[in-house]
Amino acid sequence: MKAIIPAAGLGTRFLPATKAQRKEMLPVLDRPVIQYVVEEALAASADEVIIINGAKKAALIEHFSPSPNLSEFLLSKGKAALANAVDHAGDLPVSFVEQDQPLGLGHAVHCAAAKTGEEPFYVLLGDVLVPDNQVLLRMLDVHKRYNGASVIAVFKVPRELVSRFGVIAGSQIQEGLWKVSDLVEKPAVEDAPSEYAIFGRYLLTPAVMELLAHTAPGAGGEIQLTDALKALLKTEDMYAVVVDDDEGFDTGTIETWLETNVRLAMRKPEFAQMLKDAIASIG
Ligand code: UTP
Repeated sequence: MKAIIPAAGLGTRFLPATKAQRKEMLPVLDRPVIQYVVEEALAASADEVIIINGAKKAALIEHFSPSPNLSEFLLSKGKAALANAVDHAGDLPVSFVEQDQPLGLGHAVHCAAAKTGEEPFYVLLGDVLVPDNQVLLRMLDVHKRYNGASVIAVFKVPRELVSRFGVIAGSQIQEGLWKVSDLVEKPAVEDAPSEYAIFGRYLLTPAVMELLAHTAPGAGGEIQLTDALKALLKTEDMYAVVVDDDEGFDTGTIETWLETNVRLAMRKPEFAQMLKDAIASIG
């Protein structure tokens, strides 16, 4: 199965950090966000990882290209672990497709239509992290169990915040799994059909690509993936897998990026101690 990672948005909520580079290239601890996302797709057996690239792409392409000179330099200084890390990033099997203009997430996904053909495919938003790589695997399991249906990931949001998100309507089949009957973009609190908002992971059938080809611009004048998924529900079943609070992290704004760094640092002994020492030194 192919994995599409849209990473061509403008990242305006993270300016000026994103003036000359993509927000997907900002580091979380020791590597750019998008490297975690590529590794997650590979952990879910993606046979090709397609990054949707746009403006400000130089650093992104360089990150996933071999750097023999840097690697040799590090080895000559006795820094084998760093040389390995550099080689690993350069060897990750990614390809790139251009999105000429940031016309929306749906448009970005459709840019890879020629590559996915008649097969189901993953979509992983390039600014959203799932460090333990388990969500796509749960989605794949549901996809297989329900005759190849589309599966999206959702997370529970406080009811007063639902109007910021795309929200599902449907019924819970079992703990952590919903059958989706509708998708509502940014509902008013009193109209929200659930407290489960779309999270940035999708396993979609090829019909979605056909629908995207004809999806008109929606909210914000952008071609929205959610609109194509809403249309899909008229002809196909869809399921939603619930992502736990400590399982998935957004990095698209300074607040969420900062929180993601702190939470992940606290999980790794080497970084946790650094963070605790730094905070203690501030008093
Ligand atoms: P976002 O809406 O979070 O990204 O899209 P954005 O538009 O870059 O953010 P702001 O609002 O300006 O700060 C979710 C994902 O979809 C990609 C983004 O790069 C991000 O990873 N995307 C979005 C595209 O690839 N192309 C687009 O046209 C829009």
